[in-house]
Amino acid sequence: MSKKPVIAVVSTTVQVDYLVNALKAERPEAEFRTHDVRGDNLGDRSDIDAAVCWAPPEGLLASMPNLRMVQSLGAGIDHLTVDPTLPRVPICRIVDSDMAGGMTAYVAWAVINHQRKLGAYAANSRLGKWDQLLPIIPPVTHTVGIAGLGTLGMAAAQALLAIGYQVRGWSRTAKTGLPEGIDAFHGDEGRAEFLSGCNTLVCLLPLTDETEGVLNSALFDQLPRGAHLINAGRGQHVVDADLLAALDDGRLGFATLDAFVVEPLAADHPFWHHPKVIVTPHIATRTNPAVIARQTFQNLDRLDQPDAALHALDFARGY
Ligand code: NDP
Ligand code: OXD
Repeated sequence: MSKKPVIAVVSTTVQVDYLVNALKAERPEAEFRTHDVRGDNLGDRSDIDAAVCWAPPEGLLASMPNLRMVQSLGAGIDHLTVDPTLPRVPICRIVDSDMAGGMTAYVAWAVINHQRKLGAYAANSRLGKWDQLLPIIPPVTHTVGIAGLGTLGMAAAQALLAIGYQVRGWSRTAKTGLPEGIDAFHGDEGRAEFLSGCNTLVCLLPLTDETEGVLNSALFDQLPRGAHLINAGRGQHVVDADLLAALDDGRLGFATLDAFVVEPLAADHPFWHHPKVIVTPHIATRTNPAVIARQTFQNLDRLDQPDAALHALDFARGY
């Protein structure tokens, strides 16, 4: 690219200055314009080359006639695919080992927190109460199933395996060459068998037409009674009413939830204060701004090669 690149930094949910600073540090000669919670400063949209986005307003990207690529601020791109006018340019997501490390730590904490009854010990500690909640069940007798055996799911699966849990994973397509010890299932045909063995189910699926509402009553019926659900995917994976019913009638024993349809979660939502739910405010992991900046320019620099953008959306499969 010979001309100075013009980068739009866009979000309807956050102020983007922190990101502009990281992008400037990576490529000082580029020009940066913003559209964020403070307003629109994009100017003439016809010379914008790339947009770095979290939840852009519907139609905004389509109003940039010479846009060459879109970079998501995160691993998920559902905040982009929700826009029916999304331009057919490379839509790139973040894939980063530190981000995977953050998710792994969250998932390991959530599994251990419930499986080892650490919530009850935290409460007892505040009461000054010494109470060994027996039996102490070793990880080897507890199976964690990861729905979504992609970048984040695989990292979490390997860590749980190293701790000593039984680990299984479910993906859309068959996996080969998985580390020994991870039982793999795939597709609709593998779903029931996968679920039937999950003492804990972790959702790390992308949000697509196929996965929206997947965590519903019919799925909960296929889990062992009293299973723990961890959702670190998207709120739209969960049918909230079905989850509450399954917790209340004992089909599910506990839920650890990091993502919600509406964020922040409404103050009167029944997940707050539910005795069998922990809510965390979409903090399972986060992308380092320097990584976003590096991957944005790597992708932009590679655009002249065919199919060269890294980690780009496959429009047909939706992730
Ligand atoms: P990947 O695209 O690397 O992995 C997605 C996995 O889901 C793949 O294994 C894929 O199968 C599988 N999958 C997709 N559709 C289906 C389906 N219909 N049935 C079964 N399996 C399916 O994504 P990442 O691991 O990078 O990220 C996963 C999600 O995590 C993101 O989309 C985002 O929503 C969420 N996330 C949440 C964060 C948080 O803080 N809570 C932070 C970052 C991400 P296959 O391997 O066959 O393609
Ligand atoms: C992401 C997220 O998709 O933070 O990266 O949810």
